[in-house]
Amino acid sequence: MVEKFYYPNPAHTAQAAIKNMDEYHALMTEAREDYEGFWARYAREKIDWFKPFDSVLDDSNAPFYRWFDGGQLNIAHQCVDRHLLTRKNKAAIIFEGDNGDQRILTYRELANEVNKTANLLKNRFEVVKGDRVVLYMPMIPEAAVMMLACAKIGAIHSVVFGGFSAEALRDRIVDAEAKLIVTADGAFRKGQPYMLKPIVDEALSRDCEAVRYVCVVERNGEEVEWKAGRDYSYNELIKSESARCDAAIMESEDPLFLLYTSGSTGKPKGVQHSSAGYILWAQMTMEWVFDLKENDTYWCTADVGWITGHTYIVYGPLAAGATTVMFEGVPTFPDAGRCWKMIEEYQVNQFYTAPTAIRLLHKMGEHEPQKYDMSSLRILGTVGEPIDPPAWRWYHEKIGGGDCAIVDTYWQTETGGHVISPLPFATPVRPSCATFPLPGIMAEVIDKEGHPTPAGEQGYLCITKPWPSMIRTIWGDQERFVKSYFGDCAKEGKPVYFSGDGAVIDAEGYITITGRTDDVINVSGHRMGTAEVESAIKKHPQVAAVAVVGKPHPIKGEGIFAYVVMKGEDTISEEIELVQEINAVIKKEIGAIALCDSMIFVPDLPKTRSGKIMRRILRALAKGEEITQDISTLEDPSIVDKIKNCCKGAGMH
Ligand code: PRX
Repeated sequence: MVEKFYYPNPAHTAQAAIKNMDEYHALMTEAREDYEGFWARYAREKIDWFKPFDSVLDDSNAPFYRWFDGGQLNIAHQCVDRHLLTRKNKAAIIFEGDNGDQRILTYRELANEVNKTANLLKNRFEVVKGDRVVLYMPMIPEAAVMMLACAKIGAIHSVVFGGFSAEALRDRIVDAEAKLIVTADGAFRKGQPYMLKPIVDEALSRDCEAVRYVCVVERNGEEVEWKAGRDYSYNELIKSESARCDAAIMESEDPLFLLYTSGSTGKPKGVQHSSAGYILWAQMTMEWVFDLKENDTYWCTADVGWITGHTYIVYGPLAAGATTVMFEGVPTFPDAGRCWKMIEEYQVNQFYTAPTAIRLLHKMGEHEPQKYDMSSLRILGTVGEPIDPPAWRWYHEKIGGGDCAIVDTYWQTETGGHVISPLPFATPVRPSCATFPLPGIMAEVIDKEGHPTPAGEQGYLCITKPWPSMIRTIWGDQERFVKSYFGDCAKEGKPVYFSGDGAVIDAEGYITITGRTDDVINVSGHRMGTAEVESAIKKHPQVAAVAVVGKPHPIKGEGIFAYVVMKGEDTISEEIELVQEINAVIKKEIGAIALCDSMIFVPDLPKTRSGKIMRRILRALAKGEEITQDISTLEDPSIVDKIKNCCKGAGMH
């Protein structure tokens, strides 16, 4: 079915940041004709520089691009201090806890908290510019305060999502060589306390020699163990810190943060972002894509542990001087109307969430939205995975009342901010289509040789020119950075950035994302490397071999499907226990987010004669599709029928 177009609501176009497609095309033309001039104009306009930059883009050492060299700034100044002139008493962060408790921090209060915390980091924990600080935090204002406090003194933060296990946390701490870990006793979820500090203790039980201190924020008040000389209470120490702190003078290219994300092979990669380029695009996209106005209240439901939480809960909104809502709980507690109730209560103007949440809330509470007044909403956003047309339409009609703009924002941890997205009051949209590259982003859909694909044909989504908020490198592994993102294709002599996603462009230039082309799967909008899940499963002593693929899932988008080969046949009779044991291993190695939705025990995997696993066959079998591809190259073609029978035996299809 060809989806119909939805046109921008004329009530908002006159006041919009970008009012129509002519304005969009004019900006694109400006960027094309004078690329550096375009970015320099915005960098001068948007950033409160301590010292202006000397050059715009240095591509002499591509793909290690440098932006705005010579410029000096501080991100906490950009996000907080500079607003004290005009927005001192404006709410910067509105926090709502799982239990409904509320806290509002004005820009003045936020500035004080950030300064006190920055002093604490410097004075008590001896953190200096360039040191890495790992944050393993719940969704409480202190998480944002900590990020900004690091920025204030030039430390590099690396937030680790609170759902990761002790092992996963340790890997990231070790890789980043963190000196300080900031955590909380725990927090609340679905009305119950849960714990974080014990997970930090376990993570630090070995291999973390660089860690000198653990700073613990009190949230749920539960008892935790203290290691003398290492662990300190944030709430105690902060009382004696001064609320005055000078901002460290940072160079444009000084790293702002690392954020670990999954790749198609090996261990997670520490994606390194810069200061100036990152904040510029975070702020610009906040203003363009969410059409931010001074009195707006904006809410993004992500977790600070993911890039969306970095760019669109903390840095983007605060750089733009917005009021950003931060929510500790889950959208289904105490019922599936929680988000809609909060939209009514805080009169939210922009609401930004993941398709998984939309599908879940539709399923669990179809009629909940009508109980609340959500007329304050102007823009609805989605991110992290493709949104299917039924979910899109429900979001549009029942949450947006039929007249809100929906922005299907496509981007990645590596892009720093949105790269393909509708402009809410300019772009005619079709459900499930991310539409056009944002002004300044030179995205193209190309084939393996680097030629643009004809309309309607699937290709690889690439960005052919560097942009300010792009990944700078993978922490400690420059070679992997080059290999992961820059293939053999070049444009104007410079390497082209490969996103890892497939896409189709139509005759009008609309881009539809078709999903990953590598061994990365997307579960509930969370990126998961199949290799990571496989290496966790292999830690079970009875597992001989394993292959993990994604399988379409009605709520999560994709579910994790594992084909497991056991050592010795006799163990297979205990399947239920084995599934539980293997899932326990995954939980220990990665966390509950990587648990398998389906696990099938098979006699072997479909391998070519050279030993390569043919995952395409496994993906097709997981979906219950007939195998149409040539299987004669398999070492043992009869394995396909055997695996099919195992799936049937397990009641799969
Ligand atoms: O496959 C794309 C998918 O999410 C991947 C990036 O994941 P991550 O780095 O964790 O960042 C998620 C939040 C930005 C992409 O490679 N993705 C993201 N947004 C969309 C999407 N797929 C389809 N449509 C989107 N709007």
